[in-house]
Amino acid sequence: MTGAMTEAPAAGSTLITGIGELVTNAPPVDAAARDLLGLRHDAAIVLDGDRVAWVGAAAQAPSADTSVDVGGRAVIPGFVDSHSHLVFAGDRAAEFAARMAGESYSAGGIRSTVAATRAATSDALTEHVRCLVEEMHAQGTTTLEIKSGYGLTVEDEARSLEVARRFTEETTFLGAHVVPPEYAEDPAGYVDLVTGPMLAAAAPHARWIDAFCERGAFDADQARSVLLAGHAAGLRGRLHGNQLGPGPGAQLAAELGLVAVDHCTYLSDADVHALREAGTIATLLPGVEFSTRQPYPDARRLLDAGVRIALASDCNPGSCFTSSMPLCIALAVREMGLTPAEALYAATAGGAAALDRVDVGRLVPGARADLVMLNAPSHVHLAYRPGVPLVREVWIGGVRSGGVSARSLSAG
Ligand code: NIG
Ligand code: FE
Repeated sequence: MTGAMTEAPAAGSTLITGIGELVTNAPPVDAAARDLLGLRHDAAIVLDGDRVAWVGAAAQAPSADTSVDVGGRAVIPGFVDSHSHLVFAGDRAAEFAARMAGESYSAGGIRSTVAATRAATSDALTEHVRCLVEEMHAQGTTTLEIKSGYGLTVEDEARSLEVARRFTEETTFLGAHVVPPEYAEDPAGYVDLVTGPMLAAAAPHARWIDAFCERGAFDADQARSVLLAGHAAGLRGRLHGNQLGPGPGAQLAAELGLVAVDHCTYLSDADVHALREAGTIATLLPGVEFSTRQPYPDARRLLDAGVRIALASDCNPGSCFTSSMPLCIALAVREMGLTPAEALYAATAGGAAALDRVDVGRLVPGARADLVMLNAPSHVHLAYRPGVPLVREVWIGGVRSGGVSARSLSAG
């Protein structure tokens, strides 16, 4: 299964040399705990087709059809963005501006995007997603998840997922995003729709099912019914929870043994304990706290308690309209107590784990050839130089393209 669909697999093999620092995310088994990233300073890497074929000391590198000297720059695994909502139309810049003038964020803003998305053509939705995916690729994201959740009718959810599937196999059915206006007086009827005909129409285009378990959206019982119905239809569960205040999301995710629960901004000690016991990954989305002026989640507390974490963008028109994983890394380091190494790991191997993927997020033989060359000598620069376009080259499934430091961000 590919995470990011590319034009065509690369032909032949490529030897990458001159790597100032290689992040493998695969430390030797006897490595010190501080070598989380499996760093190598003498390394070369060989790509063959869409896979990593060889990683080792530059002096022992085999020959290849072509070679690239990266001039002492750092090479890292491509970012794995495990949480985004790219299928939408419309713009909520005015809502953002109002927030920055003192308004607070609430789940209800989703309904304005629902109206715009329903009114858009499928071609317009597809082109918009294409622009955002190109924006992500240029910033080093090589695997991404995309949710539905702005259609909220049987037809509009199914077509949102069809659009998303053109760009990734990591598609998530989020019919339980918010109760749409036409069901305002009958939320139970809407849950019946989501778990019945909407799920049946969505399931062929989705790998995952999600629900927004929060005040103003769905309570724990409603979210549980949605996730169990999805499970019965062959979808894996994930959940939005504990974003806007304390709530039942993290405990529900643990109870159901979900791979990941996302946001986790407000967690009690019991929530943290439950996540650790269940092995559920807490996906942290610091762009949301940045864009809603909420307190940041305490990533240090989670790691110290033995909870695995991922970092993702949550790119969406309401709570966080960034597609930048480097921004998320910088915020996680500055505001959430992570070291640069922990933040990069969470944005690569952590995201892969949150999507239950073992073929991405690490640079080892057999992994997908998804890697990023930074215009910097080490990964630390991702947080040390916030806001600077450091992604110089990106390989997705062995196919090379320029990053933001090599071309303009304007897509399309
Ligand atoms: O992940 N929390 C729920 N959904 C999105 C926000 C959606 C919106 O405001 O449009 C999120 O933050
Ligand atoms: Fe989200």
